[in-house]
Amino acid sequence: MPAPEILTERLVLTPFLRGDAPALFDYRSDPEVCRYQMWVPRSGEEALHFIDGFQSVVFDTPGTWFQLGIRLRDIGPLVGDLGVHFPPDEPLQVEIGVTVARGHQGRGFGTEAVRGLLGHLFGPLQKHRVFASVDPRNRASMALLKRVGMRQEAHFRESLWFKGEWVDDLVFAILQWEWNGR
Ligand SMILES: CC(C)(COP(=O)(O)OP(=O)(O)OC[C@H]1O[C@@H](n2cnc3c(N)ncnc32)[C@H](O)[C@@H]1OP(=O)(O)O)[C@@H](O)C(=O)NCCC(=O)NCCS
Repeated sequence: MPAPEILTERLVLTPFLRGDAPALFDYRSDPEVCRYQMWVPRSGEEALHFIDGFQSVVFDTPGTWFQLGIRLRDIGPLVGDLGVHFPPDEPLQVEIGVTVARGHQGRGFGTEAVRGLLGHLFGPLQKHRVFASVDPRNRASMALLKRVGMRQEAHFRESLWFKGEWVDDLVFAILQWEWNGR
């Protein structure tokens, strides 16, 4: 399955380009942006290495993560990214994550990008369920997931060892029929 190019009103969601490495490093190493994230690049080279790692990954392959860049349609620079995880034993389920550069937050780009991705996953790809894992302290992310119609399904207590402490983990999800009937 070739990686998609998903168009929304203001955005285009496409795979990373090698030239995205400086922007990716800048916003992903911002302390405000990476507070609840596992992957934090320490240099532009590490961001480039991360991008190169996806060149051989085929979109929608069970057991892989894929990363799509979020770009403004008219201008083109990277303003964020979407993580798309295809679990190894669940071909009809997908885990997602979203990041928007601090300077572009609060303008609806995160919401618009996730809606565009859900439309693609439930439309052409005919997935059954999409879920996301979020730290309960991450209010902006929880608000976004609720805004696109995802429901909180679980609250796991201190289930993740993250940055030197045990932290809680919330699972949000939406089913294909819920998305179609929203
Ligand atoms: C979570 C995150 C992706 C949200 O991105 P964002 O682009 O700022 O999200 P949005 O702009 O869609 O929504 C943020 C606010 O903008 C408002 N907004 C402004 N214009 C909007 C529009 N045109 N459409 C929708 N919402 C709009 C929303 O109402 C929302 O306000 P509220 O949450 O106070 O009610 C961003 O905060 C982020 O990258 N956080 C760090 C990374 C992270 O932790 N990611 C989660 C991992 S799953």
